[in-house]
Amino acid sequence: MGSKDWNDKRQGVLQRYRQLLPVTEHTPMVTLGEGGTPLVRSRRLGPRIGCPELYFKLESCNPTGSFKDRGMVVAVAKAMEEGHRAVLCASTGNTAASAAAYAAHCGLRSYIFIPQGYVARGKLAQAIAFGAIIVALEGNFDDALRLARQVAATHPIALVNSVNPHRLEGQKTAAFEIVDDLGDAPDMVFIPVGNAGNISAYWKGFVEYHRLGRAQRLPRMMGFQAEGAAPIVRGEPVEDPQTVATAIRIGNPASWHLAVAARDESGGTIAAVSDDEILQAYRLLAQEEGIFAEPASAAAVAGLLRMAEDHDLSEQRVVCIVTGSGLKDPETAETIPANIVPVAAELWAVEKALALV
Ligand code: F0G
Repeated sequence: MGSKDWNDKRQGVLQRYRQLLPVTEHTPMVTLGEGGTPLVRSRRLGPRIGCPELYFKLESCNPTGSFKDRGMVVAVAKAMEEGHRAVLCASTGNTAASAAAYAAHCGLRSYIFIPQGYVARGKLAQAIAFGAIIVALEGNFDDALRLARQVAATHPIALVNSVNPHRLEGQKTAAFEIVDDLGDAPDMVFIPVGNAGNISAYWKGFVEYHRLGRAQRLPRMMGFQAEGAAPIVRGEPVEDPQTVATAIRIGNPASWHLAVAARDESGGTIAAVSDDEILQAYRLLAQEEGIFAEPASAAAVAGLLRMAEDHDLSEQRVVCIVTGSGLKDPETAETIPANIVPVAAELWAVEKALALV
């Protein structure tokens, strides 16, 4: 990799892909260093499941620890360009953390609507630290999004959920990066689905790069919902969605139709995985690859593990999107049996505890 390439990756999404984004001469070129995330080749999991060319796109390496930063930098820059002084979003946690961070960076106020009791601790900590005004609703994400839309429709506050088209524009840049890194699109992309914006954004990105001739082919989009929150798989909204993967605990996704289009146009699938499968994939990813992802991200890996059982992936180039960091959700990590050995602060005691003597 040349030094120019290295610099490119660190200039932020708006600057790096400005020609393919809604950037005008009046758009503030904001960045917290989002994008340019690593594409890491699997060393153990891929070979073990018969998928030798498996990569992980580490969106957990974005400034607030999730892929949301790519879309948020565009949405917040456009909100500023339009003269807004405040942003608003409904969120299961990651969008909130990202909106609050970029708002703080730009001197805007941020209002965040969350489902009370269902946001992982690390995400809430971020929103608090960034100084967001947090509205904890007695309802789920779908209630929060309905209310956020109503408030934004009647007040001069920019709605920065993925119903804001600037969000998907920013998020499509992850697909650009995958093609830039691999030299072409992969055969399959495994990705978790919640509000269904991200799978739609990736597909848009791959299609645009294909039209521009930067990719020779298109991937199949393989989306995964949690079994207790799988409206697209069931074909109808879920009233009371439930899953350990709180990020995708969504019963009526806003980008439902876009996601179905991405699935069908790409020849892919949207399927459901159980919480047990999610937690098993979560552990495997951490202990076999050294990648600490949050449970929602593990849903995509769970989908891959299941598919590998009865499909030949030996000739497939596969990318799994690690959408958010495991540090966001310490509660779930604490359910893994820990190897913690209390020992006196003496050499002999340490050696004995490690069975070295
Ligand atoms: N993975 C993580 C870590 C997420 O936070 C989300 C969505 C998804 C996957 C699913 O992406 O909604 O575009 O289909 N989180 C949203 C939030 C809902 O409020 O942070 P999607």
